[in-house]
Amino acid sequence: MKKKEELLSQIDKVVRTCHKCRLWRTATHAVPGEGSATAEVMFIGEGPGYHEDKIGRPFVGRAGKLLDQLLDKNGLNRAHVFITNVVKHRPPDNRAPMKDEARACMPYLLQQIKVINPKIIVPLGRSALEIFLKDTLISEAHGIPYKSGNRVIFPVYHPAAALRSRSVMGILDKDFGNLPKIIRGELQPQEVEVENGDKNQLKLI
Ligand code: URA
Repeated sequence: MKKKEELLSQIDKVVRTCHKCRLWRTATHAVPGEGSATAEVMFIGEGPGYHEDKIGRPFVGRAGKLLDQLLDKNGLNRAHVFITNVVKHRPPDNRAPMKDEARACMPYLLQQIKVINPKIIVPLGRSALEIFLKDTLISEAHGIPYKSGNRVIFPVYHPAAALRSRSVMGILDKDFGNLPKIIRGELQPQEVEVENGDKNQLKLI
């Protein structure tokens, strides 16, 4: 069997030349994601922003600095987790990914999840939450661990939202503070199976 690292770099390679939606036309670099191929925790943001697009790495701007701080505060770091996004090319003007763009990019995320097989998936904000819990607001779902097969889905606010609002910053900080307990299995997830419109996707997640 191929090593996980090898499988991830194969996914990266395909992502870098992907033309399945319009986003590659306006992007500088694809941002497939980075981190440990055996990560227990996988973070999923929305899509690369200006700085990520410039260098091809996820969460390297202000939101990324905040993510680094939150990881550090909770005994984690980039080398031990995996960080990626719903879409791998930057949406112009930092708009949210469109539905067809997210759908086109989804196979890459599903392949990454399958290879890494993380115990916990942390959707950062609304766009990533939508993959796992349809029609659910991040304001309702944040900070609640949900069970999805053998995995826990633990949605939190997007760090960029926390940079815009002091109250969201407090909530994000508090939710992140529970992550070590979830990793240690000390916080039981809700026994609600997460929903997904596409049953084939759900099988993989
Ligand atoms: N915001 C995201 O959602 N992803 C990044 O990689 C950077 C900022």
